[in-house]
Amino acid sequence: MQEKPQAKYLKDYQPPSHQISHLDLSFDLKPTATSVISKAHYIAQSGETELSLNGVELKLVKLLVNGVAHTDFEQSATLLVLRALPSAFDLEIHTEISPSTNTSLEGLYQSAGAYCTQCEAEGFRKITYFLDRPDVLTTYDVTIFGDKSIPYLLSNGNKVDEGTTEDGRHFAKWQDPFKKPSYLFALVAGDFDVLKDEFITCSGRSVELALFVDKGNLNKAPHAMESLKRAMAWDESRFDLEYDLDIYMVVAVDFFNMGAMENKGLNVFNSACVLANQQTATDRDYHTIESIVGHEYFHNWTGNRVTCRDWFQLSLKEGLTVFRDQEFSSDLGSRGLNRIDAVMAMRAHQFAEDAGPMAHPIRPQQVIEMNNFYTVTVYNKGAEVIRMMHSLLGEQGFQKGMKLYFDRHDGQAVTCDDFVSAMQDASGVELQQFKLWYEQIGTPTLNVTTHYDDHAKIFSVNVSQHHAQNDPVSDPLHIPFAIELLDDAGEAIPLICNGHEVAKTLSLTTDTHQFVFENVESKPVPVLLEDFSAPCIVKYDYHLDQLLHIIKYASSDYARWEAMQQAFLLEVCTAVEQLNVGNTYSLHSTLINTLQELLNQRKGDVALLAELLTLPNFDALAAMFEVVPVDVLVKVTHNFKQDIANHLVDELKAAFCASKEHGQLSHDGVSARAMKNICLYYLALVSDPEIQDWICAQSDSENMTLKLGALKAATSAQLDCSHKLMDKFDAEWRHDLLVMDKWFSLQATTDNENTIDTLYKLYEHPCFDKSNPNRVRALIGSFARNNPAQFHREDGAGYRLLGDLLIELNAINPQNASRMVTPFMSWRKFDGRRQEAMKVQLQRLADLPNLSDDLYEKVEKALS
Ligand code: TRP
Ligand code: ZN
Repeated sequence: MQEKPQAKYLKDYQPPSHQISHLDLSFDLKPTATSVISKAHYIAQSGETELSLNGVELKLVKLLVNGVAHTDFEQSATLLVLRALPSAFDLEIHTEISPSTNTSLEGLYQSAGAYCTQCEAEGFRKITYFLDRPDVLTTYDVTIFGDKSIPYLLSNGNKVDEGTTEDGRHFAKWQDPFKKPSYLFALVAGDFDVLKDEFITCSGRSVELALFVDKGNLNKAPHAMESLKRAMAWDESRFDLEYDLDIYMVVAVDFFNMGAMENKGLNVFNSACVLANQQTATDRDYHTIESIVGHEYFHNWTGNRVTCRDWFQLSLKEGLTVFRDQEFSSDLGSRGLNRIDAVMAMRAHQFAEDAGPMAHPIRPQQVIEMNNFYTVTVYNKGAEVIRMMHSLLGEQGFQKGMKLYFDRHDGQAVTCDDFVSAMQDASGVELQQFKLWYEQIGTPTLNVTTHYDDHAKIFSVNVSQHHAQNDPVSDPLHIPFAIELLDDAGEAIPLICNGHEVAKTLSLTTDTHQFVFENVESKPVPVLLEDFSAPCIVKYDYHLDQLLHIIKYASSDYARWEAMQQAFLLEVCTAVEQLNVGNTYSLHSTLINTLQELLNQRKGDVALLAELLTLPNFDALAAMFEVVPVDVLVKVTHNFKQDIANHLVDELKAAFCASKEHGQLSHDGVSARAMKNICLYYLALVSDPEIQDWICAQSDSENMTLKLGALKAATSAQLDCSHKLMDKFDAEWRHDLLVMDKWFSLQATTDNENTIDTLYKLYEHPCFDKSNPNRVRALIGSFARNNPAQFHREDGAGYRLLGDLLIELNAINPQNASRMVTPFMSWRKFDGRRQEAMKVQLQRLADLPNLSDDLYEKVEKALS
């Protein structure tokens, strides 16, 4: 029997026994036998004679203390414990590893031939024995030896030497002047095409920029490079932060578990988050690439210069950096649309996580496998917590806080408390109560009631806050609650309390609050939790008419979208009730009329209009129910789409034709394409040969956004032409795996009873590869996430498909397996039959003899 993996606790944190003053690494690269020599100077912090180093799957070849072979040590599967040590000493360790057989994509591995590393969170211990924890910072010198068939030998910092060896190989030596924890170490070696550029910083220094991509992909590199330069300029102008090395390198690799990694001076990216041109990437891809390039760049200060004391503090760098990348996207593009994106991610994914068995605070208190905590909670809810501080402090106060944070902690490994203290001390805004956000679990609910006193012209708003059931915190949270009151004409009414005008962001600090607004001439329509000012659920008895009023008049794009979502949700609830008692239900005519008006006017931001026309996704609908009524929800969404299509054919056709699109990358171009695609999506549902022609014509577009929009319309409506179009796409794009991922996703999200059979067959497609996370996510990730009807099939075939795959992934790549298990985590939200079927799959995993820590932690939590 294997031992059960043990949890580690935040409360048990102990400072490291030793510090390391310098590390010298040397690699001799060979696919199955890379030798790693590590030489470091260790200094005991309080007279310790014992040193425990982390190390996993390493072959120990040699061990020297102060140049002498050391024999007083003990080895286990994860540790090397050295005894009888002096208080300061040189330690030299020789290990051997096998990159070519490392399919976990953690440590040193090969991605389609190229060597690369992924050390966050705890991958460095798969390279050599080390104090692999973020609070041990040191400088690195790295020498890489490799065959000349590998032209580029890269590591962090500046290249200080290179040359040829006697045996006809070559080497390069790198020096990183900044102290860093081991998780920021990187090595890349391979043959690439390189896009070079330059950035002149605000102080006039020249920084060399280099983007390494697979041979033949240079024409897909410029967008990422432009994004990088924009990010560098933005961080200077908005945060007054300048880049600190003379060179910034980005490498794109095909095999990667996440989006990208912020290694100091040498970012490694999933190629899906770098490569783009108009033929191969959608407008959404362009946007994602810009934001991820920004995200990794922004880590240079928030993460690298100031890092985390321990992994429980992950949100210190991730929440803050997501906030920064969101602001970057918002300053450069549409603030409203970016806010909509962020809120959609929170509602669809974070709320579900917070309501399920893996619920944790943004600063978790216990962890078995750290890789399981790179979550929407730590990242996205973490960013919402930073955003709340930003709204409490204002931009100026927040920037003062950032400055103090860097003044105090540059070069250190710190905690979330240190961050909040800097914010509080710099701004003078008290954040003691606010800090509970770092401990609480689950989504708080705000119950709101209002009363209008026509006589006194007073409008009162009563808010009570309620913790989620699973929340260990019971004291009230400090919640910024933004509100707007609209009059009959849709104008915002000034908020007057006790004779004074107040700002729209109110502070909730107790269980219940009453706000009394004066001089309100007629009954207003309240816009509640405006801009999603806190990650909460608002319960308020809106009437459909009130929501439609907000959609028409609210000043913010976000508020209008939010009201439309609420209107759809209200309608879905009504429809579910009606269908449950055997009635039929069609989308309310006033809502149809509003959509019609919006389509006819087409004023304002067309991209927003496209969002307004989009129904909430299945997850957002599911979140409203104790027990998700899968079949009825599928039916209702289907009916509503059909209602919209039937009633608005003429308007949709007109809007489609009016959306002039000249292949521009501008916001107008992006908006026009979004509009064309949403129109086609609905139009495909009405049988009309003209529309089939439009779809076929658009599917021949040279622009991937349009091409894919046409295919999505065809496949989701299952038009006769869809097979022909899909086959054509397959033939056209087999040489480009990232493009084929789009095709795999379309296959997987087709709601057809043959879909599951098709998916099993697609495992044999020449482009498919279970060891590549992008392929797996494209095919099976999209299926489980975006094909509710087939994934949740009553006979359990969808669950079996995922279960079968997880068993294989557990052995190939535990990190990816663990991310892919997410759809099973909310098994309790479904009816008895589906619960049983999902549980069967979870139990199959639990029974695996070689179950990874990653899956163990989740499966165990799901079943207990
Ligand atoms: N720090 C990375 C980011 O947010 C995340 C990351 C990349 C990661 N690769 C990983 C986390 C592997 C865990 C494991 O930008
Ligand atoms: Zn990050």
